[in-house]
Amino acid sequence: MDNLINESLNGIIVESTKKGCILKDKETLMTYLLNLDEYETIVKENKNHTLNKVIKNNNLNILDCTGGFARDSAIISSLGNSVTLIESNPIIIRVLNDATKRVRSTAISTIFNRITTKFGDCIDFIRTTKKKYDYIYFDFMFNTSKSALPSKREQFLRKIVSNNLNRNQEIVEEVLQRVGCKIIIKEHVKSNDYKHLDIINTYKEKVVKYHLLIGKNEHY
Ligand SMILES: C[S@@+](CC[C@H](N)C(=O)[O-])C[C@H]1O[C@@H](n2cnc3c(N)ncnc32)[C@H](O)[C@@H]1O
Repeated sequence: MDNLINESLNGIIVESTKKGCILKDKETLMTYLLNLDEYETIVKENKNHTLNKVIKNNNLNILDCTGGFARDSAIISSLGNSVTLIESNPIIIRVLNDATKRVRSTAISTIFNRITTKFGDCIDFIRTTKKKYDYIYFDFMFNTSKSALPSKREQFLRKIVSNNLNRNQEIVEEVLQRVGCKIIIKEHVKSNDYKHLDIINTYKEKVVKYHLLIGKNEHY
């Protein structure tokens, strides 16, 4: 068993076991094994998902700049698009790539075959890629209104991932100048962290909202 221990990530360790890469909170001893087959119930409802209203058409190339555990990427891919997922946290990408190899459901496997995962910072990727995307998607961690009973997946994400609102805003502002495609920003329904930008439309749900913007680069 090769254990990767990283004290700097709030006492969360990744244990490489026969079942797969298990996340463990050393303090509470809570464990979590990411099982992507569980996304079957969400993707079955994909036509009713708000992202199906925000993203028009299909067969599109979509860049998910904040991959996390790929729940949103899975929905976007299930709507018939190709997704490039970028994730900057080494623990998250390790757990995600491991979970991708353990998928059993044919439907989920088809969905993940259309998702390419990349480790790194999304802004570095956008600065260097020659590829053009139809939509660029952002879902940074929320700073406010933590739900009363977050799922285990959510609890681990919050412990592992650090968040810096200024940095996130700078990234979105730079991307808006660099590209000419549509940009989607997801944020908590009660936050207004991007109100200074030219938002074309906002699609509200009970807990989150999705803003639609357009990149300013006419030569994209
Ligand atoms: C709220 S989570 C995303 C959840 C994801 N949408 C899902 O459906 O599972 C935000 C993720 O973005 C990653 N992230 C934050 N800033 C990033 C950046 N500049 N480049 C790449 N990934 C980043 C974090 O490490 C974290 O895993």
